[in-house]
Amino acid sequence: MSKPIIPKEEYAARRRRLLDKLGKDAIAVVPSGGLKVRNRDAEYPFRQDSDFHYLTGFNEPEAVAVFAPGREEGEYVLFCREKDEQAERWSGIRAGTEGVKHLHGADDAHPINDLNTLMPQLLTGRDQVHYDLGANPEFDQRMLGWINHLRARARAGIRAPHMIVMLDRILHEMRLFKSPAEIAVMRHAAQVSARAHMRAMQVCKPGKYEYEIEAEFLYEFRRERMEPAYTTIVGGGKNACILHYIENNEALHDGDLLLIDAGAEYECYAADITRTFPVNGKFSPEQAALYQVVLDAQKAAIDQAHPGKTWDDPHQAAVRVLAQGLLDLGIFSGTLEEVLKKPEVIADEPEREEPYRQFYMHKTGHWLGMDVHDVGDYKTGEEWRTLQPGMVLTVEPGLYISPADNVDPKWWNIGIRIEDDVLITEAGNEVLSRDVVKEMDEIEALMHV
Ligand code: GLY
Ligand code: MN
Ligand code: MN
Repeated sequence: MSKPIIPKEEYAARRRRLLDKLGKDAIAVVPSGGLKVRNRDAEYPFRQDSDFHYLTGFNEPEAVAVFAPGREEGEYVLFCREKDEQAERWSGIRAGTEGVKHLHGADDAHPINDLNTLMPQLLTGRDQVHYDLGANPEFDQRMLGWINHLRARARAGIRAPHMIVMLDRILHEMRLFKSPAEIAVMRHAAQVSARAHMRAMQVCKPGKYEYEIEAEFLYEFRRERMEPAYTTIVGGGKNACILHYIENNEALHDGDLLLIDAGAEYECYAADITRTFPVNGKFSPEQAALYQVVLDAQKAAIDQAHPGKTWDDPHQAAVRVLAQGLLDLGIFSGTLEEVLKKPEVIADEPEREEPYRQFYMHKTGHWLGMDVHDVGDYKTGEEWRTLQPGMVLTVEPGLYISPADNVDPKWWNIGIRIEDDVLITEAGNEVLSRDVVKEMDEIEALMHV
């Protein structure tokens, strides 16, 4: 079966929508990602900037895309590196200015070195520049330089931009709603990631090292032309309680849980999946009790992820189940309301958090797409926004109990998170990452075959 891709026509349709939404008084400027030195002459693998990729599908650094509605010489202008036989011999083939027109649909193309000369012309006569100010300080300076240069010439009759608008307003709102092609790509990334999680469960046993388990993910990802969408977290025992643990260098012990947060990136779209399972293949009574609470919380949250619910509804559902579970297990005393409630502010005391946050200190999810924590507003004004078909979010409740917590030591060093990727559909939702098991009996059965 052929692998899903984003077709060229979809990139063109995205550009058309952006141009239409900008209107003739505005212009959008989107620089590409850059190369970053890793250790002297070696660079990190290049990853295109998500906004740039979304609009161009062009995977080279040192490029700038300009969208100028109504411009006679072409509305989609791409500045890129020129063809250069010597440079291409060392670092790979470049499309060049002719190539980006033929291969990538640019209406007009210029060498990147002409940016300083041409950008003031492109900005002239536009009131607003849509540009992601703050993301690239070096390019910010150039942009402000071009705008100031034009504004200084206002007396000569030059109409210069007087407003910089963040890309969120138009572009990030577009990116929030995934098309059928984007969904197919994300489903594929999630399926391969799910397979890798299952493989990890099958190879795990006491005495293996965390990095050996991480290697299974790299193997499954690379053989599908994917790479990790973020640094893989493989945390056994106490390390499962460190939210951003990425050292992955310790041995896995009999009797501990293992938390793995790993997802593949495919065609610049991410999966983001977490599973937690026993290193020896059998949940202890304490692990099982807490796992069931987190699993119930996750299911309650997924039940709230459908059209018409707000962004915050899944989180509130998860928190209630987690808090009730902690009460039922005797980890908390008091009432559900007390565990969920923010304590009164007392003069001269730092603001205190809701009690449940001692064991659940993050939110239940985030938008997912080209960026792992994807773009898109979570609120409309003061209100949480309403979930709509085409949005993709993660649902990832957890509980983390460390020896620093004043509870019965039998709960210590249990860290559990269960994370799935959920597409909002007309009918409700589709869990893109559903292929990887999460019921305790299914996990135990898989680990013992
Ligand atoms: N893997 C990053 C996150 O779960 O948000
Ligand atoms: Mn996540
Ligand atoms: Mn994650």
